[in-house]
Amino acid sequence: MNRNAPIGVFDSGVGGLTVAREIMRQIPNESIIYFGDTARVPYGSKSKETIITYSRQIVEFLLTKQVKAVVVGCNTASAFALETLQKEFDIPMIGVVKPGAKVAAETTVNHRVGIIGTLGTVNSDIYKNYIHELNGGIEVFSKACPLFAPLVEEGWLDDPITYEVATRYLNDLMKHEIDTLVLGCTHYPLIRKTVQKVMGDSVNLVNPAYETAISLRTALEEANLTNSGTEVKHKFYVSDGAEKFKSFANTILPCEVEETKDINIELY
Ligand code: DGL
Repeated sequence: MNRNAPIGVFDSGVGGLTVAREIMRQIPNESIIYFGDTARVPYGSKSKETIITYSRQIVEFLLTKQVKAVVVGCNTASAFALETLQKEFDIPMIGVVKPGAKVAAETTVNHRVGIIGTLGTVNSDIYKNYIHELNGGIEVFSKACPLFAPLVEEGWLDDPITYEVATRYLNDLMKHEIDTLVLGCTHYPLIRKTVQKVMGDSVNLVNPAYETAISLRTALEEANLTNSGTEVKHKFYVSDGAEKFKSFANTILPCEVEETKDINIELY
């Protein structure tokens, strides 16, 4: 395995850019190959079988770019497909759920944690299960917020409609007096301000991306796969709408995205 090879990161769309951004900040000497499945977004309402099929195709595509590790920058795919991918592919594969659950368990003081995510992630109970493995005394309250990812894909980040939708979704969670809320979908850090406004300043919002980047760094170190000093170059691919994606990525990443390419993911 070539230690100077790039890291593959994927998501259903722009959400995984919040994970790529954190990897760029925490491990700046690694190159990223990003894939956003914009033709098939959203993932959150699809079946486990479909998400496994999509994720497998994406990993096959990333392997054609010689990636040395893959970060599943999507909670839904981490919940449904990570275990299968780890069995099928022989490179380090990191998801976002375990790191997020760890931070939540370490952050809560009153032992009342909220999880927001897609229908798939919330119904899988994966956050609850991981948090309970770490501390069985923590009460976990979950709420699926299926309209959030489309609102983010539309770019309505700081918008009265998004605020209205958030108020409706989060009302239930507020009644449970949680002190920690996991942004359990990689799209949600992009509407963090809106979520914080609704929840109030006393609730800590957990973005699993930071801890995911740290887990990736550890996995690369353990496998002797850290970049030994070649030039860093990030590349971006989507399954539809490359220009729109590129403009969006340029508003949130710390690097300039000069080009995004459209590929036909169904061929992999
Ligand atoms: N960003 C994804 C996640 O973390 C999925 C959003 C979607 O496509 O529904 O779950």
